[in-house]
Amino acid sequence: MTVAERLKKIKPSPTLAVTSKAAELKAQGMDIIGLGAGEPDFDTPDNIKEAACAAIKRGETKYTNVDGTAALKKAIAAKFERENGLKYDVSQITVGSGGKHTLFNALYATVNDGDEVIIPAPYWVSYVDIVAIADGVPVVLTTKEEDGFKLKPAALEAAITSKTKWLILNSPSNPTGSTYSYEELKALAEVLLRHPHVMVLTDDIYEHIIYDDFKFFTIAQVEPKLYDRTFTLNGVSKAYSMTGWRIGYGAGPKDIIKAISVIQSQSTSNPCSISQAASVEALNGTQAFIPANNATFKRRRDLVVAGLNESTGITCTSPEGAFYVFPSCKGVVGKKTPKGIEIKNCTDFSSYLLEEALIAVVPGIAFGTENYFRISYATSDENLQKACERLVKACAALR
Ligand SMILES: Cc1ncc(COP(=O)(O)O)c(C=O)c1O
Repeated sequence: MTVAERLKKIKPSPTLAVTSKAAELKAQGMDIIGLGAGEPDFDTPDNIKEAACAAIKRGETKYTNVDGTAALKKAIAAKFERENGLKYDVSQITVGSGGKHTLFNALYATVNDGDEVIIPAPYWVSYVDIVAIADGVPVVLTTKEEDGFKLKPAALEAAITSKTKWLILNSPSNPTGSTYSYEELKALAEVLLRHPHVMVLTDDIYEHIIYDDFKFFTIAQVEPKLYDRTFTLNGVSKAYSMTGWRIGYGAGPKDIIKAISVIQSQSTSNPCSISQAASVEALNGTQAFIPANNATFKRRRDLVVAGLNESTGITCTSPEGAFYVFPSCKGVVGKKTPKGIEIKNCTDFSSYLLEEALIAVVPGIAFGTENYFRISYATSDENLQKACERLVKACAALR
């Protein structure tokens, strides 16, 4: 059997590949420290689990409305109003089986053959592949570390053509942890106002995971004139430690929401009924564990940034959001490992770390940026401490 031609346009998720490679080596008895995973290591809070159990007992085990229950859409509308100052009718809200699913549906529902989608790099791995499978053209704009890995208005202006359909924004960012301030979003919005045919897809899934008094804003809130041109993506996976429950959601223009519902009705049907009930509790229930989790994440971020900066050839800035850092490994490129193998790029460096230091990280090239790598610090302090010690030693051993 041969697979379809369209499969040639995409590749398996490299972050999931690192996680499974690390798991495979671990199963062989190696003491691998996995710093590749894109998920909080905290358990789902008990009130959310209990809401799921109650839903099962109530018999909420049947099909639901294709793009989400009325109760969950109501909770999402309330969340947008409470946290982002955005008013959405339930008809402007869609619920899918994870943020990635909703992102896929939104792009699949709107991108025509040859439509361009502007994606700032470093980018989350799925944006480019989803645009490609929808027959769109990813227009990757490389940002600079000295700009905090953020898109500058002039670069956006220069990249817009008559074929531009979407700009994708992601703040806090996976993989860099970078965050856009109110003023930075306003400056990008000014460019977008000059180009009324361009829509914005803002991926706010790390909205709650922020540090150092950073205040989160989303673009439709900063520039209300963009409200009708914005699709705001979010989900419960990260803030509520619910990656396995698979609930994501989006809000935006009714015609896109309707189109997504058609796609969903002919593919997955509704997201899991029990997970939807749990998500209602996640959004409506206590939010008290979020700052507590963030305090833990911040401590780990500081630990890991210090360890990285102690490693010869590595430099790392301290981002204000998500649970990733994106250090530069430019200073080790060109060096040789104790076995005499030259490190030519971040992929070689990541392989060296996996094989010799037993640390699993993701090479920056997976996110469209050479000579960097991503570390997820969503793991225990002990693991991070041990990983930093190994990293310092592994870098010192390079010649
Ligand atoms: C930037 C970003 N957006 C969206 C998602 C999708 O999350 P999920 O499909 O698990 O809800 C992720 C997950 O890693 C992410 O990092």
